[in-house]
Amino acid sequence: MDFLKKYNQVLQEYLDSAVAQKEPRQLYDPIKYILSLGGKRLRPVLTLMVCDFFGTDFKKAIHAALAVELFHNFSLIHDDIMDNAPLRRGQKTVHEKWDVNTAILSGDAMLILAYRFFENYEPQMFQELARLFSETALQVCEGQQHDMDFETRDDVTLVEYIKMIDHKTAVLLGAAMKMGAIVAEVSESDKDKIYQFGRNLGIAFQLQDDYLDVFGNPETFGKQVGGDIIANKKTFLYLMAIGQGSSQQSEELEHLFSINPKDPTDKISTVKEIFLTSGAAEATRDEIEKYSMNAFSLLEIINISEEKREMLREFGNSLMQRNV
Ligand code: IPE
Ligand code: IPE
Ligand code: MG
Ligand code: MG
Ligand code: MG
Repeated sequence: MDFLKKYNQVLQEYLDSAVAQKEPRQLYDPIKYILSLGGKRLRPVLTLMVCDFFGTDFKKAIHAALAVELFHNFSLIHDDIMDNAPLRRGQKTVHEKWDVNTAILSGDAMLILAYRFFENYEPQMFQELARLFSETALQVCEGQQHDMDFETRDDVTLVEYIKMIDHKTAVLLGAAMKMGAIVAEVSESDKDKIYQFGRNLGIAFQLQDDYLDVFGNPETFGKQVGGDIIANKKTFLYLMAIGQGSSQQSEELEHLFSINPKDPTDKISTVKEIFLTSGAAEATRDEIEKYSMNAFSLLEIINISEEKREMLREFGNSLMQRNV
């Protein structure tokens, strides 16, 4: 999508100089490292794009965009500790390359660096952005805690799962977009609509992430395929397989998700097979479609041109077709 180039270009320029190479190296090197591994830069691009689409110079939103990307990367460093993940963006995770203490502190510093970017805005806009940011960050923590609590629970419901991913992932996408709208100083109603659009897209995005965690190509995915199965994550795939599978499949799944074998190879392949034959994989793809459609229907009532609306649709669709 050619129209994304200008956002990525500006973002990269700023990101390169966003974090100074300071002492102690052990604190700043991991920050430089995680940022240098790239990633899709989806959230900050959304901030810039929304600001642009509402008719304001998107460079005004660069500081908010950087805050969001720094926060996202901080959350990944800590998430990888919690998930015991070895790989991120095709490279070693920070706690593997350095150690857990380093990953905790570098992550903390990144969170603070993220907040600092809002200091570039005038008091009123600063307050509005910082308020949204704090509320969102706290929801992410809540979602993360539920995600971990679910690992050892066997009675998680679909409603609880959707709420959990709304918090750990979707609200940040919504907030990234709303920040673009805040900087563009649009009506409260448009801020709210773009936020809801982002949230629905975010739920579809996390469902797709869970799907790729099982069915992604290990050569290109950049993370450990099967990681969620190893960690007994109660994803949509799991919950649907329990609900739709035969009683024998459900029993087997429940058993497999209560153990932590040293060599998880067989567990992963059995679970994968059940996800496919029970119809859970297909149901997950349908659910992704459902939330994408919810998002797109919200687009219809936002005050932007049809051309911009189409671009947002194109962007949303590309996210759902991704393989990383
Ligand atoms: C990973 O986010 C964490 C989730 C919320 C699923 P991304 O898939 O956006 O990660 P990067 O930034 O592109 O690596
Ligand atoms: C991540 O969810 C959500 C946050 C980082 C807050 P996951 O644990 O599924 O993300 P990945 O798969 O490790 O990127
Ligand atoms: Mg993780
Ligand atoms: Mg996680
Ligand atoms: Mg994941």
